[in-house]
Amino acid sequence: MIIHNAYGVDLGTSSVKIYSQNTGKTLIEKNLIAVKTTRQVLAVGNDAFEMFEKAPDNISVDMPVKSGRIADVAEVEFVLHTLLRRVDRHLGYAPAIYFSAPVVMSEIERRAYYAISHAGDLRNPKVYLVDRPICDAISIGVPISRTKGTMIVGLGGQNSEISVIANEQVIISKEIPIGGQQINEAIMNDVRRLENLLIGRRTARRLKSVLATLEPERRDARKV
Ligand SMILES: Nc1ncnc2c1ncn2[C@@H]1O[C@H](COP(=O)(O)OP(=O)(O)OP(=O)(O)O)[C@@H](O)[C@H]1O
Ligand SMILES: [Mg+2]
Repeated sequence: MIIHNAYGVDLGTSSVKIYSQNTGKTLIEKNLIAVKTTRQVLAVGNDAFEMFEKAPDNISVDMPVKSGRIADVAEVEFVLHTLLRRVDRHLGYAPAIYFSAPVVMSEIERRAYYAISHAGDLRNPKVYLVDRPICDAISIGVPISRTKGTMIVGLGGQNSEISVIANEQVIISKEIPIGGQQINEAIMNDVRRLENLLIGRRTARRLKSVLATLEPERRDARKV
């Protein structure tokens, strides 16, 4: 029997999320790749994050997706295929790959999704591009078929996308150049200015996750 697997893939600026319908597993890993100057790949995903800000000069830890867009096709291809293997050992024949993709894309950006899928171990993949706000709405349980508009705000790694969806379509979508990384940098700058202390991006990110909250009671409790 031929098994046609299906995968949902979100190639984000900060992290890659892959869902395998076959195994029911979801994999979330850092979208990073550690490469030696000899172009030899040393680590991918969370393993590469372990080397982030700690690697010697001859190793660079790269972000293959920048501001939600594929920036380095070869590196994204490597990350995708390595992580697909981590989520599912048997990729099967003609798997369906559903990508969560930016609403506005150039033809070259669109083609990059097909190019990275048709390389590596995938045999005859069927590639589908789904608008990111639609994926976000489904993931948080917002009904997408409503005829009344729903605003979806997606905080990303380097930018955020604000969209209105209705009737299973994106009506309007705008990107602003503020995402989680700019918040990390603001924390780094504040700690340096107020405490005279230099901290790295990893620490700033941890501080953000541990201290940040939108709940007023918890926010006040923090000041004590
Ligand atoms: N609970 C949280 N509180 C504050 N920030 C968070 C929280 N969870 C995640 N973030 C931050 O949100 C940012 C976006 O994370 P996410 O993994 O969704 O981005 P992405 O999908 O990789 O990016 P993009 O969609 O722009 O390509 C990250 O910088 C992360 O640190
Ligand atoms: Mg995202």
